[in-house]
Amino acid sequence: MKTIKDLDLKDKTVLVRVDYNVPLKNGEVTSDLRIRASFPTINYLLKNGAAKIILISHLGRPEGKENPEFSLMPVAKELEKLLPDEKVDFKPLPKNGEKIELPAKISLLENLRFNPGEELDSKDFIKNIIDSVNADVFIQDGFAVVHRAHASTDAVKDFLPVYAGLLVEKEVTNLKSALENPAHPVVLLIGGSKVEDKQPLIDKFVDIADYILVGGKIAADGYKPTDSKILVANDFDENSEGAKLDIGPVSTAEFAKILGGAKTIIWNGVMGKVEDPTFTTASSILADVIGKNSDATTIICGGDTTGFVENYLETHPNLKYSLISTGGGASLEFLLGKDLPGLKF
Ligand code: 3PG
Repeated sequence: MKTIKDLDLKDKTVLVRVDYNVPLKNGEVTSDLRIRASFPTINYLLKNGAAKIILISHLGRPEGKENPEFSLMPVAKELEKLLPDEKVDFKPLPKNGEKIELPAKISLLENLRFNPGEELDSKDFIKNIIDSVNADVFIQDGFAVVHRAHASTDAVKDFLPVYAGLLVEKEVTNLKSALENPAHPVVLLIGGSKVEDKQPLIDKFVDIADYILVGGKIAADGYKPTDSKILVANDFDENSEGAKLDIGPVSTAEFAKILGGAKTIIWNGVMGKVEDPTFTTASSILADVIGKNSDATTIICGGDTTGFVENYLETHPNLKYSLISTGGGASLEFLLGKDLPGLKF
């Protein structure tokens, strides 16, 4: 995969697909993980002489219609806050044949999904954007959306040379290292509530992992292991009504011991009902063990898990993880070995 490090960026106008599909509340960004994850690429582009950087993204599912609820405007504001030395211009999507003025070095275009052409993988739609800014090159850095064959991840490749950004490079390198010749012991830690979402990952890793540890609601609901490598939590912390809302101390200690000696760890799914602070104990202990295991490649994936770890890091900044994946569906599909249209270049 060619990356921006293989590219002479001097005076180039670069069109960068990022994934700024971030949660909003009352018009404010409530998690900036995906925004901050785009900074290594943006900073590299600035440092290496790119003339103009045009960021493109979707937000939510506005179904091809303009809808202020899904505007990227709050993200443009957040970007400016987080990049204090840069002005970020926020621009509407260009009409047919329209040229966009680019006075600032960095611009963010409005939500691509305000136009039905985005999800229809329309060549005309993306060609119009490319022409509107006179882009020289396309940079794929929206890892979380590479599983979609949309105009800004797929059709775009027909018109511009394509290079991976540093986020895509980091995600792909780490996720690949878990699948191809991973260092052993390999441990898959599974939690969360939907067994149907997790079973494909468990099936895939039965051949790769040395241990598959199952906690979360799946375990509380009585998950039945199908292989001797699969260990299911069997003691739980309960609320006053007897609902099993976290895995208990015995299983947590057993999981912690295995994770402490692992060389490759993939964690998908929290161990308890972590939105209630009473039931964060097991997830916190395991986040700690994983974040301190400096001998291992440690991959955190899935929205609930990355959200939990991001929060935990705020009070435990000494912990280190190889990858806190920005991809929900994309990282899962990558780990399952599926073909990802946005990575085919
Ligand atoms: C995500 O949040 O998983 C990506 O941004 C993709 O969004 P989508 O599921 O709406 O295509």
